[in-house]
Amino acid sequence: MRQVMVAGNWKMNGSSDSVKELMAGIKEGMAAVTKAEVVVCPPAVYIPRVSGAADGSAIKVGSQNICDEDKGAFTGEISADMLKDTGCEYAIIGHSERRALYGETDELVAKRFAAARRNGIKPIFCIGETLEERESGVTNDVCSRQIDAVIALEGVEALADGVIAYEPVWAIGTGKVATPEQAQDVHAFIRGKIAALNAEVAEGVRILYGGSMNPGNAKELIGQADIDGGLIGGASLKAEDFLAICQAAE
Ligand code: PGA
Repeated sequence: MRQVMVAGNWKMNGSSDSVKELMAGIKEGMAAVTKAEVVVCPPAVYIPRVSGAADGSAIKVGSQNICDEDKGAFTGEISADMLKDTGCEYAIIGHSERRALYGETDELVAKRFAAARRNGIKPIFCIGETLEERESGVTNDVCSRQIDAVIALEGVEALADGVIAYEPVWAIGTGKVATPEQAQDVHAFIRGKIAALNAEVAEGVRILYGGSMNPGNAKELIGQADIDGGLIGGASLKAEDFLAICQAAE
């Protein structure tokens, strides 16, 4: 059985005060969350603070990116060891905003994935198509290509302990959520593609949906056979909404 995961991607939002308040709110509601694995991914500067606040609770911490190199002259980057040192267990990798706005290629994303794994950080590996790609019928090809870059570098077994987040770019931050059927179709395609290479890995890998998931649509999305949870942006910034999504898995 795959454990449902609900991960909050806070993106570039928050302050010392708001982070403290948000963590207190999530912590308070955690008693009612018994099934989902709960992860929060704050901006890097707040990771130590958030890890401290998560202490003594089941809340896990992740970063929003990770350097593909292990140490040295890489100004502005943060290594896997540093993330581990400050309490991260997970790292979001290849988010569409990184790909579209900061030029991260499939190859660089795969290298970041590799760096996470070799240093004991679990990747939350993001893939997904743009609206233009969906409308031209190449959704599966795009997801396939993005996954293939990781498989080429690390082998399909590398996906076994990782998490894939399918996030259609047109649904991110737009309020335009994929229908449960649209999402399930792509999730089933992804799992099927992996199964063709290794059935055991396909059975175990968790595939999250991301893109305008909220308390109103979470239950139906997470209820789909191949949707194992969510990567939540906007709705993860309010403890009440985030917790409601966590509870959709109960
Ligand atoms: P959203 O973002 O929930 O605000 O659409 C999801 C994400 O970018 O991970």
